[in-house]
Amino acid sequence: MSLKHKIIIDTDPGQDDAIAILLALGSPELEVLGITAVGGNVPLLLTQTNARKICELAGRPDIKVFAGASRPLVRSLVTAENVHGKTGLNGPDLPEPTMPLQEQHAVDFIVETLMREESGTVTLCPLGPLTNIALALNREPRIGDRIKQIVLMGGGFFEGGNITPAAEFNIYVDPHACEVVLGSGIDIVMMPLDVTHKALTSASRIAAFRGLGSRVGTAAAEMLEFFERFDEEKYGTDGGPLHDPCVIAYLIKPDLFSGRRCNVEVETGSELTMGMTVVDWWGVTSRGKNATVMRDIDAAGFFALLVERLGRLS
Ligand code: RIB
Ligand code: CA
Repeated sequence: MSLKHKIIIDTDPGQDDAIAILLALGSPELEVLGITAVGGNVPLLLTQTNARKICELAGRPDIKVFAGASRPLVRSLVTAENVHGKTGLNGPDLPEPTMPLQEQHAVDFIVETLMREESGTVTLCPLGPLTNIALALNREPRIGDRIKQIVLMGGGFFEGGNITPAAEFNIYVDPHACEVVLGSGIDIVMMPLDVTHKALTSASRIAAFRGLGSRVGTAAAEMLEFFERFDEEKYGTDGGPLHDPCVIAYLIKPDLFSGRRCNVEVETGSELTMGMTVVDWWGVTSRGKNATVMRDIDAAGFFALLVERLGRLS
C-alpha cells in the first residue's frame, strides 16, 4: 500500500510552475506519475520543452512529460510573455532538453492513468489553464468518480484579478474548462490569488535558494529574480507572489493553509468579467459548496519547506 500521494502535474511553465515541479520532485511524499503540458504562459511547444528542462535540472530525466492542448476549449490562447519572458523560463540559462517528450497525448495519458490506477488514489494538480483536465473529463466522464482530488492554482475573489480587473490568468485563458471542472462534483481545493499574493518572494528568501549552492538552488534564484520584477513594479511590493508551488505545498503540508468550503462559479458570458471566479465566501446563496477555497498561508513555513526540499535535489 503506497503511502505516497500519486499525482499528475498539469502545467504551463512558467517560473512559478518550475518551482512547483522542483518541490514535487524533491518531496518523497509525492509520486509524480507524469507531467502534462498545456498552452498558457507561453505556447505549448515551449511549455512542454520547459517542463522537460526542469525535470533534467532536477536530475529526473525518467519523468514522463506529455504535450496536451495548445489552445483553450472555445477562446483563443492568451499568453504571458510579458511576465515570464519569451521562453517562459527566462532567468537561468538551462540547456535544451535531451529527455524525450512522450508520444501519447496528455489527455489520453490522464484518462488512461485514472482508469488504470486504483480509484480514489490519484490527485490532479493543475497549475495552468484547465483545458487538459476538462478535455479528459469530457472524453471519459467515468474518471470523475476515480479522481481523488483536484488541487488547482487559479481564480481570485477579494483580491480581484491579475490579467483583468476581474479575472486571474489561468481561469481567464480557459473559463469554459474551469466551468467543466467546477461542475464535475470532484473534490476541489482552490489556491486563488487571495492566498498566493501572501506568498511573496523577497531578497532574503531568494538568497536562501542561492545559498543552497546547487544548480537547482541557483537556477531557482535566477528564475525568481526574473519572475518577481513584473509584480514588484505592478503591485509596488518587495517581491512577487509564488503562485503554483502553493498547490504542491498543500499536498505535503496542508496545515500551512487555511480556507473554507464555498460555492465557486465562473463567468463565461460577459467580456467585462470573463473568467472571473465568483466565490460565495460569506455563504449568501444556496448554491452548492463545490470547492475548498484557501485564503491564508504560513508564508515563512512555505518558503522554509521550499528551500529544504529543493535542497534535496542534486
Ligand atoms: O495567475 C497566476 C497563474 O498564471 C500561475 O499559474 C502562473 O504560472 C500563470 O500560469
Ligand atoms: Ca502556471
